[in-house]
Amino acid sequence: MKKELRFTVNGQPYELYIKPKTILVEVLRAHLGLTGTKRGCDSSSCGACTVILNGMAVKSCSVLALQANGGEVLTVEGLAKGNELHPLQKAFLDHGAFQCGFCTSGMLMSSKALLDENPNPTKEQIKEGIDGNICRCTGYNSIIRALTGVVKGEYKEEK
Ligand code: FES
Ligand code: FES
Repeated sequence: MKKELRFTVNGQPYELYIKPKTILVEVLRAHLGLTGTKRGCDSSSCGACTVILNGMAVKSCSVLALQANGGEVLTVEGLAKGNELHPLQKAFLDHGAFQCGFCTSGMLMSSKALLDENPNPTKEQIKEGIDGNICRCTGYNSIIRALTGVVKGEYKEEK
């Protein structure tokens, strides 16, 4: 039997009926069409599916959608404000912090959760903050440089 799911995604309220075992990434991608969140391993290993649920980075392949009932989800689609990219997105672009891009949405969401919790992390803390996200292309250095640029205030959020 389907269950009701009411939650907010990127500030927009949704109400839908889903099977109880439906995972969050499936609802985001298949039901809401938010395909920026990627589906890689489906086993909580790669981090490509990372979104922010109630302020915490979670791997949406490992969260039942119903666990988000009543909650707030932020996906990569919710980072930019209109045409204005989020500082992390600007920094990733400037530093070439992606190649194929498959890891990028998850990497951005883990980075945002990290900086929301600790706006001034050390390099070690940055590494820890993204250690659940695998990137097969960049070698991570450009990603760490991008985050460091944001931490140093080189990329500001538009007011
Ligand atoms: S798809 Fe969720 S961690 Fe890999
Ligand atoms: S840019 Fe290809 S996996 Fe990270």
